[in-house]
Amino acid sequence: MVFGMLAGFTAAKSDVLLSEDEIAQTLLHGPWPIEYGKDPSNRVSGNLEAIAFGKALFSDPILSRDENMSCASCHDPEYGFSDALPRAVGQKLLDRNTPSLMNLRSHRWFGWAGGTDNIWAQSIDPILNIDEMGHDAESLRSAIAGSTYPQTYGKLFGDISKHAPEDVLVNISKALAAYQETLRTGQTSFDRFRNALEAGDLTTAGTYSDSAQRGLQLFIGRGNCAFCHSGPAFTNGEFHDAGVPYFITETRVDEGRFGGLKAIKQNPFTLAGDYSDDPEKTGAWAVNQVRFQHSDFGTFRVPGLRGATKTAPYMHNGSLKDLAAVVDHYNAINMERLHVDGEAILQPLGLSPQEKNDLIAFLESLSDDGS
Ligand code: HEC
Ligand code: HEC
Repeated sequence: MVFGMLAGFTAAKSDVLLSEDEIAQTLLHGPWPIEYGKDPSNRVSGNLEAIAFGKALFSDPILSRDENMSCASCHDPEYGFSDALPRAVGQKLLDRNTPSLMNLRSHRWFGWAGGTDNIWAQSIDPILNIDEMGHDAESLRSAIAGSTYPQTYGKLFGDISKHAPEDVLVNISKALAAYQETLRTGQTSFDRFRNALEAGDLTTAGTYSDSAQRGLQLFIGRGNCAFCHSGPAFTNGEFHDAGVPYFITETRVDEGRFGGLKAIKQNPFTLAGDYSDDPEKTGAWAVNQVRFQHSDFGTFRVPGLRGATKTAPYMHNGSLKDLAAVVDHYNAINMERLHVDGEAILQPLGLSPQEKNDLIAFLESLSDDGS
């Protein structure tokens, strides 16, 4: 009898602060990880040899014309495959922050402005960009042909000496994509909490800190964060204005999604194009259907929030130095800066210092997977 009461007491002590409705919303942020399967647009997706080849290429300066930088120069594993700089430095200071490459398959559009719709096309961009790696298809083909790679390339794609430069460019990028797809964050204390709630195991759920739970309540509740940072990867995959200034200099703006749409309409490497290996052209509807709208101006893709503790500074221009600065930004959001109609979803939150710490504790609980 006494033991029974004690057991009941222990269960009741298991400190789950959430209401039924909050629990239902929390479950929507998992389960994690998601299994995505192979990318049908990339015939070497999931191929172990291609993954190893892509990994070698990723940190090889041969992909830059002057052999002075590799993908890993900016996408450094130590920082979640970003670079800890506000804005990337290529041959000169670039306009945007280097995003993390974790969990890429959770996105439909790539780059801050969604200028591409698949990972291999996004990997072509830096190779050809004159301010980054500065190759053209011809010079890349010669560099690969003159390296130790032709044998590996040959096993995966065929004889390089018979391939047109554009085909070599695309094949190299598909090997890079096969590798990048494997970069994933693991389960965190948030996931253990979420899974325990799903299983009705309130004792395990109670081990998630009260502070993180209160932060989660703010995230799905008053903060409205989950409106954009939704689902298991904490992004709706779309483009929004989060009140970050879009001026690069006094006279130059970053058009954001508006520019991304211009880029994708001219890009020959989309899911709708001939370089996709998918005969069904799965996913091509998205690029075929996008339309220009004034409201796209100055919007940026909603980042996923898993692994974010490693990828400071934040936002498309790296203007916020840490998660506390991000929380302060949302807390005191400048409504005048919100130029996009209909983004009234963001309001100054008036959080207390305790509430700010709670929100940070919650964000940190999306990153403690030990990766
Ligand atoms: C000079 C630094 C630099 C180098 C070198 C570089 N990147 Fe990036 N990478 C960036 C920046 C900055 C962005 C954001 C681009 C944008 O939004 O316009 C980016 C974006 C990406 C993205 C999109 C990520 C997302 O979440 O949408 C992928 C994928 C990527 N890079 C892969 C590569 C690969 C592969 C290489 C090597 C071939 C490479 N990058 C070389 C700086 C770099
Ligand atoms: C209206 C949609 C929207 C809402 C609501 C929203 N965000 Fe964001 N979030 C974004 C967008 C878009 C960006 C990127 C903005 C940019 O770079 O200009 C972003 C960026 C971030 C980043 C930086 C991630 C990185 O890798 O740079 C964090 C952290 C973040 N948001 C957390 C939150 C929190 C916490 C809340 C709630 C208080 C919230 N967001 C509410 C859309 C939103």
